Amino acid sequence: MKRHEGLIGQILIIILDFVFPGSHGELLVSAVSAMRFDTLAGANLTLTVFFSGAPDPAVTWFKGRLPVVTWTIGSDAPPDVAEEYREVLKLEPNGSLSFVHAPLGYGGDYTVEMTKSGLGTASINFTLRVFETFQNVTVTAFPELIQEGSEQFRLQYSMLRGVVEQQLWFFNGHPIPGGEDSLHYFVQPASLAVREPHRNDTGRYTVSLSNPFSNVALHLNVTILYGPDEPRIQINPVQDFYVAEDSLTLSCQAGGSPQPLVKWTFGGETLADSHAGVLNLTRVQTSQGGLYTCELRNQKTGVQRHQSVALRVYERPPGSPHCSVISEDNLSLQYGCQWSGGTPPARLSFPNVSEGNGLENFTLTMNASVELDGKMVTCDAEHPIEHNKCNVTAKSPQNFLPAVRTHVDSEGKIVVSIRCLSRAAPSAVVSWFRGGEPVGDGNLISVDTTRLDIRHRNVSMLLLQNYTCTCRNPLGGRSKDVQLQGPSISNFSLFPHKDGTIVTLTWEVPPTSIVTGFDIQMSGPALVSADGNVSQSKGSTDAFCTILPKPGSARSADVFHLDPKSTYHFRVLPRALMAEGRPTKAHRIGPGEGLSGPAIAGIAAGIPCSLLFLLLVCGLVYLCLYWSRVKRRGTRYPVSRAADKVTTTQTQAPHNLLPGGPKSPPDYNRLRQAPSILSVAPPSFVPPPPVRVATTV
Ligand SMILES: *[C@@H]1O[C@H](CO)[C@@H](O)[C@H](O)[C@H]1NC(C)=O
Ligand SMILES: *[C@@H]1O[C@H](CO)[C@@H](O)[C@H](O)[C@H]1NC(C)=O
Ligand SMILES: *[C@@H]1O[C@H](CO)[C@@H](O)[C@H](O)[C@H]1NC(C)=O
Ligand SMILES: *[C@@H]1O[C@H](CO)[C@@H](O)[C@H](O)[C@H]1NC(C)=O
Ligand SMILES: *[C@@H]1O[C@H](CO)[C@@H](O)[C@H](O)[C@H]1NC(C)=O
Ligand SMILES: *[C@@H]1O[C@H](CO)[C@@H](O)[C@H](O)[C@H]1NC(C)=O
Ligand SMILES: *[C@@H]1O[C@H](CO)[C@@H](O)[C@H](O)[C@H]1NC(C)=O
Ligand SMILES: *[C@@H]1O[C@H](CO)[C@@H](O)[C@H](O)[C@H]1NC(C)=O
Repeated sequence: MKRHEGLIGQILIIILDFVFPGSHGELLVSAVSAMRFDTLAGANLTLTVFFSGAPDPAVTWFKGRLPVVTWTIGSDAPPDVAEEYREVLKLEPNGSLSFVHAPLGYGGDYTVEMTKSGLGTASINFTLRVFETFQNVTVTAFPELIQEGSEQFRLQYSMLRGVVEQQLWFFNGHPIPGGEDSLHYFVQPASLAVREPHRNDTGRYTVSLSNPFSNVALHLNVTILYGPDEPRIQINPVQDFYVAEDSLTLSCQAGGSPQPLVKWTFGGETLADSHAGVLNLTRVQTSQGGLYTCELRNQKTGVQRHQSVALRVYERPPGSPHCSVISEDNLSLQYGCQWSGGTPPARLSFPNVSEGNGLENFTLTMNASVELDGKMVTCDAEHPIEHNKCNVTAKSPQNFLPAVRTHVDSEGKIVVSIRCLSRAAPSAVVSWFRGGEPVGDGNLISVDTTRLDIRHRNVSMLLLQNYTCTCRNPLGGRSKDVQLQGPSISNFSLFPHKDGTIVTLTWEVPPTSIVTGFDIQMSGPALVSADGNVSQSKGSTDAFCTILPKPGSARSADVFHLDPKSTYHFRVLPRALMAEGRPTKAHRIGPGEGLSGPAIAGIAAGIPCSLLFLLLVCGLVYLCLYWSRVKRRGTRYPVSRAADKVTTTQTQAPHNLLPGGPKSPPDYNRLRQAPSILSVAPPSFVPPPPVRVATTV
């Protein structure tokens, strides 16, 4: 091959000699083969030259502009090679330059210059490129953490060995343009810069490197870190507010790379029971209402973000609103409305009287006026969970009846309690007067002013004064006079039992009467005790004597062991300690001096309409009348003057309890008597058998 090339060269010279005869003797240099060489480092290589036109020219090889070898062809002296090139460069006898194990640094432009004095100079250029195959090529990204929005990031390759002739970059398999016209990418030697990276720049980057002897492609997965993005908070179920004991879920999500870590905080404390941003709140309490903050953190970049959501947990106030009206100064009215304990507190107002409102416990003070008397004032109680109402009506004191109670205290004094209780709102304050003068002694008046206690040993002293009570609230007042009465009794009745051995006595006491006890008095034969003994030694007398004392609270008494065949008279004597009142009119039981109405009725029912019998009845009636006259004369036992008075005053007694007739309402007695009637159920009345009456006759 080389010889063949040399032959061509010689032919060329001959042709040249022939074409340019005048040029004979001119020096010519030419390359036998290509003038560009690519070689692997370490290979042997020769830059072959051919010259003609002159024998033994002087040869100089330049590397760039630097002469590295000089020699005169054919001279005996060895070629002069620059010191540092001697290991590598060798000059062939024919002027060609040989490289022994051409190292990397020997690539470059080489020029051979041949000179022959008188024949001029000729030169020729070579380009040598020394390559290496790629070894241990790596690609790395800078910085290590690439954040979205940062200035740029770079991909850089490095290798243990290798000379790159060409580099190509790809993103997800698409070529990256390397020109200056790309703003986003910037391809530099051995690196790629990506400006203002975006999350979309996350992907697989490839660099492909090549030279004439080898090529390599390297991949690198690049992740652009970003986030947390704007958090999205979701509450399930969606409600304006939640009621205590409701359950709900709070979730917080935000985009990010890597996925941000989420934690929930409430009241400055981290809630541990949230997973992946989901917070389960089961059976919430009002204390759990408030601001919940979702805190997100990118664990790689440390970027944090947070967002809050307000949770309203409500609870209705217990019970229902309570309306009231009171008066503190006894002049104005203070309407109150209370419904406390709710979350949020209930809003209270009195819409029909005022614009104002308040929370939980609202009071409204108004001047007392006639319009307010009896006017229902409604309180509107508004709570998100429940709307409620209550109402209250202020009233001036209503008509009332004073009540009198009597008892004996531990010192043996009679205590008379007068109570004046009038229905009123605000409740009435009672002022007391004795004989027209205000009662000054506070000890006598109860704390709530409704009761006056007066005490004395001598009942006559108690009766000396008239009392007046005045019930008053800002809307008005009402007075009552109380004239106390000495011990007295009204409505005394007698109920014999069927077999005639027991009798029940019942009685009433006028409302203002002072009574501490009763004496049950009897006249008639002695009572027989259960064991057959005669309990009353006095025996058959016409005088009344006390057989049974009863306390002041008693309204009935039973008398046992009566002889059905005997006649008895009973009466009740009221007393206030030692002072005795008028005894009641005496009532009689037993056969004898008269026929009671029921007896007559029994007879009438038992006897057929026979004339004979009628006559008999007439006779009987006559006998009755006669006998009763005899009896009345016979029972003129020595009775105290008081007893006499009973008979005269008895009829009017029950209706004359309160002096000043017009003042006392007509139903006064009925009202007072009702409890005492109810307190003892009167025994069923059984008339004596008519037969016995007949035999008596
Ligand atoms: C290169 O040249 C050196 C010296 O002339 C020789 O020893 C070596 O064997 C040669 N190498 C090759 C690959 O020809
Ligand atoms: C010059 O010498 C080298 C080595 O001896 C040889 O390979 C080459 O072919 C020669 N060139 C010419 C033109 O003869
Ligand atoms: C280069 O790569 C080879 C195998 O690929 C490995 O054995 C060698 O240790 C690497 N050299 C360096 C300096 O990394
Ligand atoms: C890079 O990403 C591709 C797909 O995107 C995947 O197949 C490959 O395993 C990843 N390489 C590394 C080193 O993560
Ligand atoms: C929250 O509640 C849902 C549904 O009740 C349940 O699936 C989930 O596991 C709960 N999460 C936690 C953290 O308790
Ligand atoms: C007033 O309140 C009472 C209970 O507090 C209620 O029973 C009554 O219905 C109310 N009257 C009106 C008119 O709302
Ligand atoms: C009770 O008072 C009256 C009137 O003051 C008086 O006449 C009477 O003697 C007194 N009785 C007793 C037991 O003190
Ligand atoms: C009590 O009042 C009545 C009727 O108004 C009167 O007749 C009586 O005299 C008064 N008694 C006293 C002690 O003032």
